[in-house]
Parts: sequence; structure tokens; C-alpha cells
Amino acid sequence: MKRIGMLTSGGDCQALNAAMRGVVKTLFTSGEEVEIYGFLEGYRGLIYGNFRMLTGADFSGILTKGGTILGSSRTPFKLIREPDENGLDKVEAMKQNYYKLQLDCLVILGGNGTHKTANLLREEGLNVITLPKTIDNDLYGTDMTFGFQSAVNIATDAIDCIHTTAASHGRVFIVEVMGHKVGWLTLNAGMAGGADIILIPEIPYDIDKVVQAIEDRKKRGSKFTILAVAEGAISKEDAKLSKKEYKEKLKNSPYPSVSYEVAAQILERTGNEVRVTVPGHTQRGGSPCPYDRVFASRLGSEAGKLILDGEYGFMVGYKNREVVKVPLKDVAGKLKMVSPDATIVQEAKMLGISFGD
Ligand code: F6P
Repeated sequence: MKRIGMLTSGGDCQALNAAMRGVVKTLFTSGEEVEIYGFLEGYRGLIYGNFRMLTGADFSGILTKGGTILGSSRTPFKLIREPDENGLDKVEAMKQNYYKLQLDCLVILGGNGTHKTANLLREEGLNVITLPKTIDNDLYGTDMTFGFQSAVNIATDAIDCIHTTAASHGRVFIVEVMGHKVGWLTLNAGMAGGADIILIPEIPYDIDKVVQAIEDRKKRGSKFTILAVAEGAISKEDAKLSKKEYKEKLKNSPYPSVSYEVAAQILERTGNEVRVTVPGHTQRGGSPCPYDRVFASRLGSEAGKLILDGEYGFMVGYKNREVVKVPLKDVAGKLKMVSPDATIVQEAKMLGISFGD
């Protein structure tokens, strides 16, 4: 008999349900007797002992369902060692609930912050297996995270729709794509949607270069320009500020996000009308794309196998087209960023895409 706790933490994404279904189907198919404890709303459920016993029926019909049947929440890692408002030691509370329910292991689905806490629980002696979810694809130790391809599809659709109206009106359009710290989503959706300029956090931009790229297009007879701008895109000037100074700048900025600042600067320098579109959380919503359904099912299935083999302390990831187990200690606390020297960036530049650098 295996007693498995499961939780989804952090920002949700597509294919979380598909991944959990993959784990559970694999366990059930093996013939092993299993009890599944679903902790609700991320680590909060584990801290406060808020869980639901799950049966096979809970995992039926959820392969194509977006969101997470367990609910999610953000529990910042930097606060995990701080007692809650009633003085409760959160880490101790999680351990106690784990031992009280006599769990064999926890299956934790999440992104960067989630992995730091998962690794902490491992260090505290709990058996943990994790699965890499996030539309940002910024998790270290895996070439791919589930949710990413679905989000690329949605952000690309947004750019595709903008293309036709931008062409009709001869306007400059900015599509703001999710990703505060990394630009994988913007880079991929931007290339897939044929964006002319792509601005990402890893490659600080010079607004004069951005304007130059628009002017060059005009000279070549293109009446419109599309920019794919990551939420966390940053100018060369701002990149020189300290973290504190930059936070202060954002706090006092008249613009709701960097895209609006870029739009105002383009208008001021060129007189061009600029429109900003923000698909926002639609990028995390809806049904997972076929790639993510298969991918999350594969990772879930391998996680199920690790549980059956009693192998813990790993994230199930994807490297060089193989599903692999990666020690959690090698993953936690590291970001996978776009290198400005990456071949994909060089190829995009050879295609004529400007990064404003
Ligand atoms: O981590 C995924 C993500 O969607 C980021 O791309 C985005 O910046 C952030 O979460 C948004 O967070 P929230 O849902 O808390 O507004």
C-alpha cells in the first residue's frame, strides 16, 4: 500500500491535471494499492491539513481540463520559515501532517518558488517527487516545462490577430507577453507570430534602437510593426539601476507596465500611433495543447514509476528529448534564462528580428 500526498503550488498553468492524472493512472495500472491525499490550494493545504481523499473518478475526464482540480496558491519561499499570523511554524506543520497521515511521499507540481520549498521538505527528511510546471519555461534542470507550449499557442494567437488589424491601420502594435524574469515565452511566441521586434528581460533594450528598427521597416515600405514585449523587459538604462532603485522607479511610474512606457516613447519619437494589447492570464488558461497533454502525461507516468520504485528526491524533467530524473538539490533556487548568445537568439536576429540591443 502506498499513501501519496499531492499538491499544486504557485501560478497555475495548463496540463497540471494531465500530469496528476498521469501519476495516478500509472500507480493504479500497476495494481499497487494506493491512497491519494490531495492537499488543497498548494502548500497551504499541507500546512493547515486541508486535504481531500481522491479516487480514480477524480482523475477521469481531466486530461483536457485547464487549471488544477486541487486549487493553487502562492506561498513565498522567503516567508516559509516565518511563523504565520497565529505563530504556527509552517515547516513543522507540513512535516506533522505528512507523518500524521503516514504518507510515503509527496508529489509536488510547481515552478521555481515551489521547488525551493520542495527541496527544503526533502532536506527535512520527507520523500518528495516534483513535476515542472510553468508557462515561463524557466525551471532549471529541464529543457521544457508543461504549460509552456500551451501558453506559446495562446500568445501566438494574440500576435496573429493583432497582425491583421495592424496591417489594415498601418499601426505599431505591442503585444505584452507574460514573463517577469525570463523571455522564453515572448521569444517563442514572438518568432511564431512573426513579430518584428522582441524585447525580453535577458537582453536590455535601447529605445533608440527600437525606434530605428521601426523606421527601417517604414523605409522598406512596411506600414506596420509588431513588438512582442515581455512583462519584464527592461531598458539598458534601467538595467544599470540597483534592484531597490528599479522597484522605486516602477512604483512611481505613470505606466501600468513596461509596454506602455515603450509605446509612449515610440509615439514621442516617431509620432506613430501605438496600441498595446495585454493577453495577460489568458496565457495560463484554457485547455492544454496536445503537446502539453502528452508531455505532462509522460512526466506524470515517470513520477508514478519513481514512486513504485521508492526513488525520491527528484524532479522528473526533460533533457535532450528524454524524460529524466534530476536531483531536486540541483534544481532548487536556479533560473533557466535565455542567453543573449543562444543560437535561437542569433537565428532570430538573422531573420531580421530586432531585440533593441
Ligand atoms: O509564473 C507564471 C506567471 O504567469 C508569470 O509569467 C507571470 O509574470 C506571473 O505568473 C503572474 O502572476 P500572478 O498570477 O500572481 O499575477
